[in-house]
Amino acid sequence: MTGSRIIGTGSALPRQIVTNADLAQRVDTSDEWIVARTGIRQRHIAQADETTATLATAAARAALDDAGVEASSIDLIVLATATPDNTFPATATKVQHALGCNGGIAFDVAAVCSGFLYALSVADSLLKTGMAKRALVIGAETFSRILDWDDRTTCVLFGDGAGAVVLDAPAAGDAGKDTPGILGTRLHADGAQHDLLYVDGGPSTTQTVGHVRMKGPEVFRHAVVNLAEVLREVIEDAGISVADIDWVVPHQANARILDATARKLGISPDKVVVTVHAHANTSAASVPLALDTARKDGRIKAGDLVMLEAMGGGFTWGASLIRM
Ligand code: UT7
Repeated sequence: MTGSRIIGTGSALPRQIVTNADLAQRVDTSDEWIVARTGIRQRHIAQADETTATLATAAARAALDDAGVEASSIDLIVLATATPDNTFPATATKVQHALGCNGGIAFDVAAVCSGFLYALSVADSLLKTGMAKRALVIGAETFSRILDWDDRTTCVLFGDGAGAVVLDAPAAGDAGKDTPGILGTRLHADGAQHDLLYVDGGPSTTQTVGHVRMKGPEVFRHAVVNLAEVLREVIEDAGISVADIDWVVPHQANARILDATARKLGISPDKVVVTVHAHANTSAASVPLALDTARKDGRIKAGDLVMLEAMGGGFTWGASLIRM
């Protein structure tokens, strides 16, 4: 059975842009180091009036406009975030109310940087069972609020933002690799790697929000291996070859990870959508933000075969193959 179809995409970024030079005034770093090691040149940082919910709502509105459908037609919202507005209720319910589409299902998914892949898969599954007909799947983060701004090894890497897609249940009788829809997804988690990337706070432990802690080089090594492996799994499941893929839309953590993963699989760098220079790592927002960017600038077109992939804290990782 063909999966659910993406009928619209949207994204939103905070107003304020912070450059590498701005950060060099705050911690012992430089534009040269950040660009050479990560590819990042700038990031958007939320101000007090911009929250995960407001960014998510703006991205969702843009996706609804793009799809040409009303908010009232949405009966499922799955929002991926590691930086919710409040511990509870789910930020998805705030977005639901802001959009004026009360009444359906709304909840958050926590899988950090892989969150959008997890959320997309959960929404696709619910749509296939008939629990809902039209979903908003959103990745939204304000990671700036959980950064230790004195830790140069993490604070230069992240940014804030949101991306969203409108997902329609598969039409009856859909079939085949050329039919628009999600063709296959693989998700993984490995809780043994907790200490390589985590937040050192939370309601049940410290009663504080905490800060991001990461052993960067070790995460880097795991990321390249895990991503190459999960991409191979999805390619094999779908019975396609690497050459069939039109675009890879990866999680935007580090330009060097994108290059290394593409090299390992023999994917041309020209087919990899890169936005990390402009947005930095926006965690769960990064994949839908990059997808929307590449659709709006005309690179990704209807009918293209697109591979989404991400890896993040947990560890969690996954990939999803989509006919647009
Ligand atoms: O989204 C979830 C997944 N996250 C990731 O995938 C992140 C994966 N990791 C990475 O992207 C990279 O490991 C980093 C960008 C975090 C770090 O790059 P690296 O090439 O692995 O550098 P490193 O951590 O090995 O550090 C090299 C040097 C160190 O100095 P010494 O010990 O060689 O003297 C660091 O202290 O660079 C130093 N350094 C910095 N220097 C200037 C670390 N951060 C900075 C900085 N500015 N911001």
